[in-house]
Amino acid sequence: MAQTCYVCHGPDGRSGGPVASLAGLPREHIVRQMTEFRTGRRPGTVMNRIARSYSEEQIGAIAEFIATLK
Ligand code: HEC
Repeated sequence: MAQTCYVCHGPDGRSGGPVASLAGLPREHIVRQMTEFRTGRRPGTVMNRIARSYSEEQIGAIAEFIATLK
């Protein structure tokens, strides 16, 4: 599921580009950011739309996985 995220956030979550890297972020941070994008509390360019296409359970699973990336 996290493959989708790599398109913008870089392979294995390491971007080296304009979009923030995901690798190394704590689980809690990812869940909070995704939830805020989802509810519109945090404005974004594309993340709001992306976050809304996942359920809370899916966000939890993605965050769990990404937090294991180094
Ligand atoms: C189409 C490109 C794109 C895809 C796909 C994408 N992102 Fe993002 N992401 C961005 C951009 C751009 C930002 C900066 C905020 C904005 O402009 O929306 C961002 C910001 C974030 C942030 C906040 C980073 C921080 O520390 O402030 C998180 C967390 C995040 N994305 C997680 C994800 C996850 C998890 C996925 C896969 C489910 C994903 N993104 C897929 C483009 C993308």
